[in-house]
Amino acid sequence: MTDSMAAGLAARPRLLDRYRAFLPVTDATPPLTLGEGATPLVRAERLGAAIGAPNLYLKVEGQNPTGSFKDRGMVMAVAKAVEAGARAIVCASTGNTSASAAAYGAAAGLEVIVILPRGQIALGKLLQALVAGARVVAIDGNFDQALTIVRALAEQDDHPVTLVNSVNPFRLDGQRTAAFEICDDLGRAPDILAIPVGNAGNISAYWAGFRAYADAGRISATPRMWGFQAAGAAPIVHGRRVERPETVATAIRIGDPASWDKAVAARQESGGRIEAVTDDQILAAYRDLARYEGVFCEPASAASVAGVRTLAAAGALDPDATVVAVLTGHGLKDPRTAEAQVPGVIDAAPSVGAVAVALGWS
Ligand code: F0G
Repeated sequence: MTDSMAAGLAARPRLLDRYRAFLPVTDATPPLTLGEGATPLVRAERLGAAIGAPNLYLKVEGQNPTGSFKDRGMVMAVAKAVEAGARAIVCASTGNTSASAAAYGAAAGLEVIVILPRGQIALGKLLQALVAGARVVAIDGNFDQALTIVRALAEQDDHPVTLVNSVNPFRLDGQRTAAFEICDDLGRAPDILAIPVGNAGNISAYWAGFRAYADAGRISATPRMWGFQAAGAAPIVHGRRVERPETVATAIRIGDPASWDKAVAARQESGGRIEAVTDDQILAAYRDLARYEGVFCEPASAASVAGVRTLAAAGALDPDATVVAVLTGHGLKDPRTAEAQVPGVIDAAPSVGAVAVALGWS
């Protein structure tokens, strides 16, 4: 390694090195990285003022290598799979897990298989998996059915393959690092952590992360966990499975979350809540995030901000509270939803006069 490379790594260490003391990293764990983690915590003054949360911050997880928070858990899970001698990995996905598995699997030289609900994957995510060389199987079913299938596939002996959904404990271990980063950046834990909930792994991982940091004496208090499901896919809110989940936020179109019990425990232990937000509320937050803050996230991610806005309007938010809303994935992943939300371009002939007229200046 050159001196300048060493200096660069010291300034921006690999995620698995930075939080090694909190992770199941051993000397035999390969130093896998695509540059995940160290994502920005953005102070959102304009949006915060607009939605009644004056001390609002955004954890912009779309800035991970494949554009979502999944990379934190995937780097850990794939490194451990390689350490254990795996040759192939498999996952079910609403899109982001498959994009991340495809990328980290490619980097580690593994075969990658993903099972997806046909027609329900945002275009960018599907292309990420295909471009990285994953074998993609689309089923005429939903995510919950795909997860049942991959769990069974991973148990068969004739084709050894490691499951990298968040039921793989290394995924949640890695995802805890986002909670660590937030505390490191704020110098304390937030009062409230607002987060979208789908398969319920991430809310569980954040809560485990905050608790681990508290146990290690790095923070003196833990946040209340506020989880938000889409109204058409809100099994935890209603306390029963949803057979046919529906929402514009395809990433969280899940009716039977694998980490249901862990999410309920996170809610209870943190004094938090798990609520539903409508597609209209999600899309309003999605537009406002871009227009007030310049942060383009995917629809599912905006559920966190939609939820904070709803609870603030209901008087459930102390205005002094420090709120961190997790924006789980990048807006560019889902160009079709974006396209349906925006006005068209303004046409003009290629002259100063015509452009001025088109702008209404003359
Ligand atoms: N936000 C985005 C952008 C997601 O992709 C997901 C989950 C979530 C939120 C919810 O996180 O499942 O841990 O509660 N996506 C998974 C996938 C299901 O397959 O990509 P969760």
